[in-house]
Amino acid sequence: MANKVIIGDNKDVMTNGNHLDSSYKVIYLDPPYNTLTTKSYNDAEDSDLWMEQIEDRLTLCKKYLHNAGVIFISIDDSEIATIRFLCDKIFGKKNFLGTFITRQATRSNSKHINTIHEYVVCYAKDKTKVQPWKVKRLDTEDGEWMRNLMNNVRSLYDKDINSANDYLKKYIKESGLTWLRNYNLIDENGDIFFASDLSTPSNPRTVDIPEINLHLEPLDKRGWTSDKRLVELHNKGLLHYRNGRPYEKKYLYDAEDNCPSILNFYSRQGTKDLKDLGLDGLFDTPKPVELLKHLF
Ligand SMILES: C[S@@+](CC[C@H](N)C(=O)[O-])C[C@H]1O[C@@H](n2cnc3c(N)ncnc32)[C@H](O)[C@@H]1O
Repeated sequence: MANKVIIGDNKDVMTNGNHLDSSYKVIYLDPPYNTLTTKSYNDAEDSDLWMEQIEDRLTLCKKYLHNAGVIFISIDDSEIATIRFLCDKIFGKKNFLGTFITRQATRSNSKHINTIHEYVVCYAKDKTKVQPWKVKRLDTEDGEWMRNLMNNVRSLYDKDINSANDYLKKYIKESGLTWLRNYNLIDENGDIFFASDLSTPSNPRTVDIPEINLHLEPLDKRGWTSDKRLVELHNKGLLHYRNGRPYEKKYLYDAEDNCPSILNFYSRQGTKDLKDLGLDGLFDTPKPVELLKHLF
Protein backbone atom coordinates (compact mmCIF):
# COMPACT_ATOMS: atom_id res chain seq x y z
CA MET A 1 0.00 0.00 0.00
CA ALA A 2 1.30 3.45 -0.85
CA ASN A 3 2.11 5.88 1.92
CA LYS A 4 0.60 9.31 1.77
CA VAL A 5 1.55 12.57 3.44
CA ILE A 6 -1.05 15.30 3.54
CA ILE A 7 0.06 18.73 4.65
CA GLY A 8 -2.62 21.06 5.90
CA ASP A 9 -4.91 21.95 8.73
CA ASN A 10 -6.11 18.61 10.02
CA LYS A 11 -9.71 19.75 10.43
CA ASP A 12 -9.87 20.93 6.81
CA VAL A 13 -8.27 17.70 5.61
CA MET A 14 -10.71 15.54 7.55
CA THR A 15 -13.76 17.62 6.71
CA ASN A 16 -13.01 17.43 3.01
CA GLY A 17 -12.22 13.71 3.23
CA ASN A 18 -11.39 13.17 -0.47
CA HIS A 19 -7.74 12.48 0.29
CA LEU A 20 -8.50 9.92 2.98
CA ASP A 21 -9.50 6.28 3.11
CA SER A 22 -12.77 5.46 4.79
CA SER A 23 -11.49 3.46 7.72
CA TYR A 24 -8.14 3.46 9.49
CA LYS A 25 -7.00 0.72 11.86
CA VAL A 26 -4.80 3.06 13.87
CA ILE A 27 -4.87 6.81 14.36
CA TYR A 28 -2.06 8.43 16.33
CA LEU A 29 -2.38 12.07 17.38
CA ASP A 30 0.40 14.22 18.74
CA PRO A 31 -1.58 17.40 19.36
CA PRO A 32 -0.30 20.60 20.95
CA TYR A 33 -0.17 19.81 24.69
CA ASN A 34 -1.46 23.27 25.56
CA THR A 35 1.40 23.80 27.97
CA LEU A 36 1.50 27.52 27.12
CA THR A 37 5.27 27.22 26.83
CA THR A 38 6.25 25.95 23.38
CA LYS A 39 7.63 28.70 21.21
CA SER A 40 8.04 26.62 18.07
CA TYR A 41 4.36 26.55 17.18
CA ASN A 42 1.17 28.07 18.48
CA ASP A 43 0.73 26.25 21.78
CA ALA A 44 -0.39 29.20 23.81
CA GLU A 45 -4.10 28.84 23.31
CA ASP A 46 -6.80 29.64 25.75
CA SER A 47 -7.94 26.39 27.38
CA ASP A 48 -11.57 26.52 26.20
CA LEU A 49 -10.51 27.15 22.63
CA TRP A 50 -8.01 24.27 22.78
CA MET A 51 -10.76 21.97 24.08
CA GLU A 52 -13.16 23.01 21.35
CA GLN A 53 -10.54 22.44 18.65
CA ILE A 54 -9.55 19.03 19.98
CA GLU A 55 -13.19 17.97 20.32
CA ASP A 56 -13.80 18.79 16.65
CA ARG A 57 -10.77 16.74 15.59
CA LEU A 58 -11.54 13.75 17.81
CA THR A 59 -15.09 13.63 16.48
CA LEU A 60 -13.77 13.64 12.91
CA CYS A 61 -11.18 10.96 13.78
CA LYS A 62 -13.91 8.67 15.08
CA LYS A 63 -15.64 8.94 11.72
CA TYR A 64 -12.53 7.65 9.92
CA LEU A 65 -11.76 4.85 12.38
CA HIS A 66 -12.22 1.21 11.35
CA ASN A 67 -14.74 -0.71 13.51
CA ALA A 68 -11.85 -2.64 15.07
CA GLY A 69 -9.63 0.46 15.02
CA VAL A 70 -7.88 2.25 17.88
CA ILE A 71 -6.75 5.79 18.51
CA PHE A 72 -3.62 6.82 20.46
CA ILE A 73 -3.20 10.35 21.74
CA SER A 74 0.02 11.70 23.23
CA ILE A 75 -0.53 14.25 25.98
CA ASP A 76 0.97 15.40 29.27
CA ASP A 77 -0.40 16.50 32.65
CA SER A 78 -1.61 19.89 31.37
CA GLU A 79 -4.54 18.43 29.46
CA ILE A 80 -4.76 14.71 30.31
CA ALA A 81 -8.01 15.30 32.21
CA THR A 82 -9.55 17.17 29.27
CA ILE A 83 -8.49 14.48 26.81
CA ARG A 84 -9.98 11.72 28.98
CA PHE A 85 -13.18 13.73 29.42
CA LEU A 86 -13.53 14.38 25.67
CA CYS A 87 -12.67 10.81 24.68
CA ASP A 88 -15.14 9.37 27.20
CA LYS A 89 -17.75 11.62 25.62
CA ILE A 90 -16.85 10.88 21.99
CA PHE A 91 -15.69 7.22 22.04
CA GLY A 92 -17.53 6.17 25.23
CA LYS A 93 -16.11 5.16 28.61
CA LYS A 94 -16.62 1.52 27.68
CA ASN A 95 -14.12 1.91 24.83
CA PHE A 96 -11.26 3.17 27.00
CA LEU A 97 -8.34 0.75 26.58
CA GLY A 98 -5.93 2.34 29.02
CA THR A 99 -3.17 4.94 29.32
CA PHE A 100 0.51 4.33 28.71
CA ILE A 101 3.03 6.28 30.73
CA THR A 102 6.27 7.02 28.96
CA ARG A 103 9.40 9.02 29.80
CA GLN A 104 9.50 12.56 28.52
CA ALA A 105 12.61 14.15 29.98
CA THR A 106 15.13 13.75 32.76
CA ARG A 107 14.16 17.02 34.43
CA SER A 108 11.16 19.32 34.42
CA ASN A 109 11.04 22.97 35.43
CA SER A 110 8.44 22.33 38.08
CA LYS A 111 9.38 23.40 41.60
CA HIS A 112 7.44 20.65 43.34
CA ILE A 113 7.27 17.38 41.48
CA ASN A 114 9.99 16.68 38.95
CA THR A 115 7.57 15.39 36.34
CA ILE A 116 9.50 13.34 33.81
CA HIS A 117 6.66 11.38 32.22
CA GLU A 118 3.93 11.92 29.70
CA TYR A 119 1.02 9.81 28.47
CA VAL A 120 -0.41 7.99 25.50
CA VAL A 121 -4.17 7.66 25.94
CA CYS A 122 -5.79 4.73 24.07
CA TYR A 123 -9.41 4.32 23.01
CA ALA A 124 -11.11 1.87 20.65
CA LYS A 125 -14.00 2.55 18.33
CA ASP A 126 -15.45 -0.71 19.71
CA LYS A 127 -13.38 -2.34 22.45
CA THR A 128 -15.11 -5.72 21.98
CA LYS A 129 -13.53 -5.96 18.50
CA VAL A 130 -9.95 -5.32 19.64
CA GLN A 131 -7.77 -8.40 20.27
CA PRO A 132 -5.84 -8.49 23.58
CA TRP A 133 -2.52 -6.65 23.42
CA LYS A 134 0.27 -9.06 24.27
CA VAL A 135 3.98 -8.56 24.71
CA LYS A 136 6.73 -11.16 25.06
CA ARG A 137 7.69 -11.36 28.70
CA LEU A 138 11.31 -11.49 27.54
CA ASP A 139 10.87 -7.92 26.26
CA THR A 140 9.58 -6.65 29.61
CA GLU A 141 11.48 -6.01 32.84
CA ASP A 142 11.12 -9.75 33.57
CA GLY A 143 13.49 -10.37 30.64
CA GLU A 144 16.70 -10.18 32.64
CA TRP A 145 15.92 -12.76 35.32
CA MET A 146 14.20 -14.97 32.73
CA ARG A 147 17.36 -15.03 30.59
CA ASN A 148 19.48 -15.83 33.64
CA LEU A 149 17.14 -18.61 34.69
CA MET A 150 17.08 -20.13 31.18
CA ASN A 151 20.88 -19.96 30.88
CA ASN A 152 21.45 -21.48 34.32
CA VAL A 153 19.02 -24.33 33.66
CA ARG A 154 20.57 -25.03 30.26
CA SER A 155 24.12 -25.21 31.57
CA LEU A 156 23.10 -27.35 34.57
CA TYR A 157 21.16 -29.63 32.21
CA ASP A 158 24.28 -30.26 30.12
CA LYS A 159 26.02 -31.62 33.24
CA ASP A 160 23.24 -33.27 35.24
CA ILE A 161 19.52 -33.44 34.38
CA ASN A 162 18.42 -33.97 37.99
CA SER A 163 20.16 -30.94 39.36
CA ALA A 164 18.68 -28.83 36.55
CA ASN A 165 15.22 -30.06 37.55
CA ASP A 166 15.85 -29.42 41.25
CA TYR A 167 17.18 -25.95 40.52
CA LEU A 168 14.15 -25.06 38.38
CA LYS A 169 11.62 -26.34 40.94
CA LYS A 170 13.35 -24.45 43.76
CA TYR A 171 13.52 -21.27 41.66
CA ILE A 172 9.81 -21.45 40.84
CA LYS A 173 8.87 -21.99 44.47
CA GLU A 174 11.06 -19.17 45.78
CA SER A 175 9.92 -16.73 43.09
CA GLY A 176 6.32 -16.97 44.34
CA LEU A 177 5.17 -16.17 40.79
CA THR A 178 1.88 -17.89 39.96
CA TRP A 179 2.33 -17.69 36.19
CA LEU A 180 5.78 -19.31 36.37
CA ARG A 181 4.49 -22.36 38.27
CA ASN A 182 3.47 -24.25 35.12
CA TYR A 183 6.87 -23.89 33.48
CA ASN A 184 8.31 -26.82 35.39
CA LEU A 185 9.60 -29.07 32.58
CA ILE A 186 12.87 -29.14 30.65
CA ASP A 187 13.23 -30.49 27.11
CA GLU A 188 16.16 -32.40 25.61
CA ASN A 189 17.92 -29.12 24.73
CA GLY A 190 17.66 -27.81 28.29
CA ASP A 191 14.84 -25.39 27.41
CA ILE A 192 12.09 -24.73 29.96
CA PHE A 193 8.46 -25.35 28.96
CA PHE A 194 5.05 -26.21 30.33
CA ALA A 195 2.76 -28.97 29.17
CA SER A 196 -0.45 -27.38 27.96
CA ASP A 197 -3.57 -29.53 27.92
CA LEU A 198 -4.90 -30.55 24.49
CA SER A 199 -8.41 -31.55 25.53
CA THR A 200 -11.24 -29.20 24.57
CA PRO A 201 -14.77 -28.59 25.87
CA SER A 202 -16.40 -30.71 23.14
CA ASN A 203 -17.80 -34.23 22.75
CA PRO A 204 -15.50 -37.09 23.74
CA ARG A 205 -13.92 -38.74 20.67
CA THR A 206 -11.35 -41.32 19.68
CA VAL A 207 -8.22 -40.06 17.91
CA ASP A 208 -6.54 -42.29 15.34
CA ILE A 209 -3.69 -40.80 13.30
CA PRO A 210 -1.48 -43.68 12.09
CA GLU A 211 0.97 -41.39 10.24
CA ILE A 212 2.16 -39.93 13.54
CA ASN A 213 1.53 -43.16 15.42
CA LEU A 214 -1.10 -41.57 17.67
CA HIS A 215 -4.07 -43.39 19.12
CA LEU A 216 -6.08 -41.80 21.93
CA GLU A 217 -9.10 -43.19 23.74
CA PRO A 218 -12.02 -40.83 24.40
CA LEU A 219 -11.84 -38.88 27.67
CA ASP A 220 -14.82 -39.02 30.07
CA LYS A 221 -16.28 -35.59 29.53
CA ARG A 222 -14.09 -33.65 27.08
CA GLY A 223 -13.03 -33.94 23.45
CA TRP A 224 -9.55 -33.76 21.88
CA THR A 225 -8.20 -30.88 19.84
CA SER A 226 -8.41 -31.40 16.04
CA ASP A 227 -6.35 -34.03 14.16
CA LYS A 228 -4.91 -31.21 12.06
CA ARG A 229 -3.53 -29.43 15.12
CA LEU A 230 -2.14 -32.66 16.58
CA VAL A 231 -0.30 -33.39 13.31
CA GLU A 232 0.99 -29.80 13.13
CA LEU A 233 2.29 -29.94 16.71
CA HIS A 234 3.88 -33.33 16.05
CA ASN A 235 5.63 -32.01 12.92
CA LYS A 236 6.97 -29.02 14.85
CA GLY A 237 8.25 -31.30 17.64
CA LEU A 238 5.87 -29.63 20.08
CA LEU A 239 4.12 -32.71 21.48
CA HIS A 240 5.05 -33.82 24.96
CA TYR A 241 3.74 -37.16 26.28
CA ARG A 242 2.82 -37.90 29.87
CA ASN A 243 1.14 -41.20 30.78
CA GLY A 244 0.40 -41.79 27.10
CA ARG A 245 -1.38 -38.46 26.82
CA PRO A 246 -0.11 -35.68 24.52
CA TYR A 247 0.37 -32.09 25.66
CA GLU A 248 1.57 -29.02 23.80
CA LYS A 249 5.01 -27.70 24.77
CA LYS A 250 4.79 -24.00 25.56
CA TYR A 251 8.25 -22.53 25.96
CA LEU A 252 9.25 -20.01 28.60
CA TYR A 253 11.04 -17.91 25.95
CA ASP A 254 7.67 -17.48 24.16
CA ALA A 255 5.71 -16.59 27.33
CA GLU A 256 3.44 -13.58 26.87
CA ASP A 257 1.76 -11.12 29.16
CA ASN A 258 -0.71 -8.30 28.72
CA CYS A 259 1.02 -5.16 27.56
CA PRO A 260 2.23 -3.20 30.63
CA SER A 261 1.08 0.40 31.07
CA ILE A 262 4.54 1.77 31.88
CA LEU A 263 6.67 1.98 28.74
CA ASN A 264 10.37 2.55 28.64
CA PHE A 265 10.52 4.95 25.70
CA TYR A 266 12.12 8.31 26.08
CA SER A 267 10.48 11.13 24.13
CA ARG A 268 13.77 13.02 23.61
CA GLN A 269 15.01 9.95 21.70
CA GLY A 270 12.78 11.17 18.83
CA THR A 271 15.13 14.08 18.16
CA LYS A 272 18.04 11.65 17.88
CA ASP A 273 16.04 9.30 15.63
CA LEU A 274 15.35 12.17 13.25
CA LYS A 275 19.04 13.07 13.19
CA ASP A 276 19.95 9.45 12.42
CA LEU A 277 17.57 9.61 9.47
CA GLY A 278 19.43 12.66 8.18
CA LEU A 279 16.43 14.86 8.99
CA ASP A 280 17.98 16.80 11.86
CA GLY A 281 15.68 19.54 13.13
CA LEU A 282 12.97 18.98 10.50
CA PHE A 283 10.38 18.69 13.27
CA ASP A 284 10.61 20.27 16.71
CA THR A 285 9.11 17.59 18.92
CA PRO A 286 9.35 14.25 17.09
CA LYS A 287 8.34 11.10 18.95
CA PRO A 288 10.68 8.09 19.19
CA VAL A 289 10.43 5.66 16.26
CA GLU A 290 10.37 2.70 18.69
CA LEU A 291 7.39 4.11 20.59
CA LEU A 292 5.36 4.34 17.39
CA LYS A 293 6.47 0.85 16.33
CA HIS A 294 5.37 -0.48 19.70
CA LEU A 295 1.95 1.18 19.42
CA PHE A 296 1.40 0.00 15.84
C1 LIG B 1 3.05 18.33 20.10
S1 LIG B 1 3.43 18.89 18.50
C2 LIG B 1 3.72 17.41 17.66
C3 LIG B 1 4.73 17.55 16.68
C4 LIG B 1 5.16 16.30 15.92
N1 LIG B 1 5.41 15.16 16.78
C5 LIG B 1 6.39 16.73 15.20
O1 LIG B 1 7.48 16.40 15.60
O2 LIG B 1 6.23 17.45 14.22
C6 LIG B 1 1.89 19.44 17.85
C7 LIG B 1 1.93 19.76 16.38
O3 LIG B 1 0.60 19.97 15.90
C8 LIG B 1 0.65 21.00 14.90
N2 LIG B 1 -0.71 21.54 14.73
C9 LIG B 1 -1.36 22.37 15.56
N3 LIG B 1 -2.59 22.64 15.09
C10 LIG B 1 -2.73 21.96 13.93
C11 LIG B 1 -3.78 21.83 12.96
N4 LIG B 1 -4.91 22.49 13.12
N5 LIG B 1 -3.57 21.04 11.89
C12 LIG B 1 -2.40 20.38 11.74
N6 LIG B 1 -1.37 20.45 12.61
C13 LIG B 1 -1.53 21.24 13.69
C14 LIG B 1 1.65 21.97 15.45
O4 LIG B 1 2.20 22.76 14.44
C15 LIG B 1 2.69 21.03 16.07
O5 LIG B 1 3.69 20.72 15.12
